[in-house]
Amino acid sequence: MSHIKLILTIIILMLGFPFQLVNTELNLELVQVLFRHGDRTPRKKEISMDHHDITIYEPWGLAQLTNEGKMREYRIGTMLRERYDEFLGSIYHPTDVYAYSSDHDRTKMSLQLVLAGLYHPASIQTWNKNLSWMPIPTYYMPEKVDDLLKPDLSPLYINAVKEARNTEDILQKILPYKDLLKLLSEKTGLNITTSNLAYEIYNQLAAKKAMNHLLPKWCTDEIYKKLQEIVNIEYEVRSYTPFLRRLNGGTIIKRFLDNIKINEERDRPRKIYLYSGHEVNIAAIVRALNLIEPELPPYGCAIIFEKLKDPNGRTFIRMLFWNGITEELKAYKIHGCDEICPIETYVDIVKDLLPSDEEVYHKWDHLSKKELRQLYEEIPNLN
Ligand SMILES: *[C@@H]1O[C@H](CO)[C@@H](O)[C@H](O)[C@H]1NC(C)=O
Ligand SMILES: *[C@@H]1O[C@H](CO)[C@@H](O)[C@H](O)[C@H]1NC(C)=O
Repeated sequence: MSHIKLILTIIILMLGFPFQLVNTELNLELVQVLFRHGDRTPRKKEISMDHHDITIYEPWGLAQLTNEGKMREYRIGTMLRERYDEFLGSIYHPTDVYAYSSDHDRTKMSLQLVLAGLYHPASIQTWNKNLSWMPIPTYYMPEKVDDLLKPDLSPLYINAVKEARNTEDILQKILPYKDLLKLLSEKTGLNITTSNLAYEIYNQLAAKKAMNHLLPKWCTDEIYKKLQEIVNIEYEVRSYTPFLRRLNGGTIIKRFLDNIKINEERDRPRKIYLYSGHEVNIAAIVRALNLIEPELPPYGCAIIFEKLKDPNGRTFIRMLFWNGITEELKAYKIHGCDEICPIETYVDIVKDLLPSDEEVYHKWDHLSKKELRQLYEEIPNLN
């Protein structure tokens, strides 16, 4: 027994040593996180495809986080706190954090939940003994001008997606799902011919499934699996060309890299950037960087982007994936680089993914004065 123990210890030491060496030599300088909102009730658009009683979604309302969804987001915050406790320190300072969401109830709430898990008031900051929570400001842009998390509302992007959808290659890929689309059309009463509409149906079914609601009888395991395959094709369509990848996902990668630069010039650098978005945003990064997972981003999954520095002043990027379900944290290996990737190599790998300023800001060019004004008006039921 003791022999085995000794050998095991030696093996563990041998395996562990190089990693420890690397880790102790690298200093964490910045953490950036993109995550998907938590489990939600179906959206209005999805409901219209299914004829059922929507009172079952009360008191949440449509497209809102469920309690499970809230907990899943809170756990992202707890995980970040555990992993980065020493780096973040126990006292929240407003310059430490920048927290941004898309312009939706579910992503705004998710962001608050992640922050609630990440920061508890230190004793000096405790303002209500009954509440281990403190308010932290968050930001968003109206979705019409949100270049980061809402590429799907850009006229240029929409046109390019339409072109991709009608390429011979994509039409061929959809062909084997003709029977599935016919079945979906019959069951929903809609004319479903594209992966886009199948994707909307899948999202609704996935929302129901997460709430433990019964799926319609026609949705067998086999059909569900086929729907997932077609959703994957939809992600491919949305990132089909270099231009699409620059607008979809590329803007986020560019923001991460820009933040690193901006942060180096700050007197008091930020420690963490949080971005609360959608499964399409995660899927866009996966497609852009040729990552293997997640194929279909689950609720509450997260991609972490760490900036590390070695004693010689060299900067490295490490990306990690949190799937939100098994709560496993895995380092990505980016194609063409190691897990811990020198930033010069990283920038070279992503250079074709980085949009120009003109591409990033083009949505502003398509707004009338009236639309511009409307960006700041209350929108009822924006969900
Ligand atoms: C905390 O909770 C106790 C018990 O419910 C209550 O009496 C007290 O007023 C609360 N304190 C604050 C600051 O809300
Ligand atoms: C369904 O849509 C396709 C493609 O847009 C169109 O060619 C077809 O005529 C439509 N069918 C019905 C029944 O509306």
